[in-house]
Amino acid sequence: MKLHNFSGGPAILPDYVYHKAADAIKNYNGTGLSLLETSHRSSAFAGILMEAEALLRELLSIPQAYAVLFLAGGASQHFAQIPLNLLHKDTGAAYLDSGVWAANAINEARYYGRVHVVASGKAEAYRSIPTGFAIPEDSIYFHYTSNNTIYGTTLREVPQTSVPVICDMSSDILSAEIDVTKFGMIYASVQKNAGAAGVSIIVIRKDLLDNVNPDIPNIFNYATLATNRSLYNTPPVFAIYTTLLNLQWLQREGGISAIEKRNIEKSQLLYEEIDRNRLFTGRVSNSTQRSRMNITFWADKPEQEQAFLDFAAERGVVGIKQYADYGGFRASLYNALSLESVKTLVAVMQEFEHHMQPGA
Ligand SMILES: Cc1ncc(COP(=O)(O)O)c(C=O)c1O
Repeated sequence: MKLHNFSGGPAILPDYVYHKAADAIKNYNGTGLSLLETSHRSSAFAGILMEAEALLRELLSIPQAYAVLFLAGGASQHFAQIPLNLLHKDTGAAYLDSGVWAANAINEARYYGRVHVVASGKAEAYRSIPTGFAIPEDSIYFHYTSNNTIYGTTLREVPQTSVPVICDMSSDILSAEIDVTKFGMIYASVQKNAGAAGVSIIVIRKDLLDNVNPDIPNIFNYATLATNRSLYNTPPVFAIYTTLLNLQWLQREGGISAIEKRNIEKSQLLYEEIDRNRLFTGRVSNSTQRSRMNITFWADKPEQEQAFLDFAAERGVVGIKQYADYGGFRASLYNALSLESVKTLVAVMQEFEHHMQPGA
């Protein structure tokens, strides 16, 4: 039976990526070596890194005023590394608290300087993202999360401010068109929409690199890492290759605007079913903030939750259980998930409704 993988991450990748990655493990590009045994100083890997950067620049229209880095580690590392680099003892940064990941970023920043939380959705269990907040002009930067993976909320508009905006795009990078010039820095773990776990994409405006705290270890210093073009130490060679394959796949699919249209269609289909079905309710309270990547919903009768998970698994639908100890469901519709998989989930929800309420 074909499995439809709605996992929140690590998540489904395109078939193109699996096949090319498997080939590269055996013999990378006819070199006679597995990519797993290929030096990061080889011309083969130099080609991978160069193409990955060039493709990312092309897909997201990243100007030369920004450095592009592929660094070992996930977004959580950058929760700490960003303030380590940019926050100095006597300075402050502004943060928007829109969920667990945003709160983790806030907690890490508190080790380094003053943190001003401009607004928090916590009291409302993060069912919407606060808007209309003020960002103090003397902040070194303003940090927010564009897509809250656990709660299924998203902020499509970049908050307006004169201070550099830093955005965690771990769960929606490359899913929709963005204007990079509105950001001082964008970062993302790749294991949701852009590759295998182990690497983060960093896009940082070069003038911010000039303001990096010089008194920090080189291995964490964005300026040092940028000067060395992601090769200050051994990077995660294979994970970066899977990111390159994702970028190649995206380009073959028609680029970001084509994938965005598909993501709109997929998410609309599922939200329509959630709103129609008598057994389920959407979790997000502000419908304009509904994520296209992570669709969250509840069973109106919590006792039916496990029954639905089992019912769906029997039909090949996996990965829809909500994060850790949170109740309800989360279906992640990342770029590589097909419209066919979404139609299958919708059909399973309809079948479950008939099963629980025959004749209704
Ligand atoms: C929005 C967001 N930020 C950060 C993280 C943390 O990423 P990592 O586990 O790669 O550090 C996640 C993980 O799911 C996430 O969804």
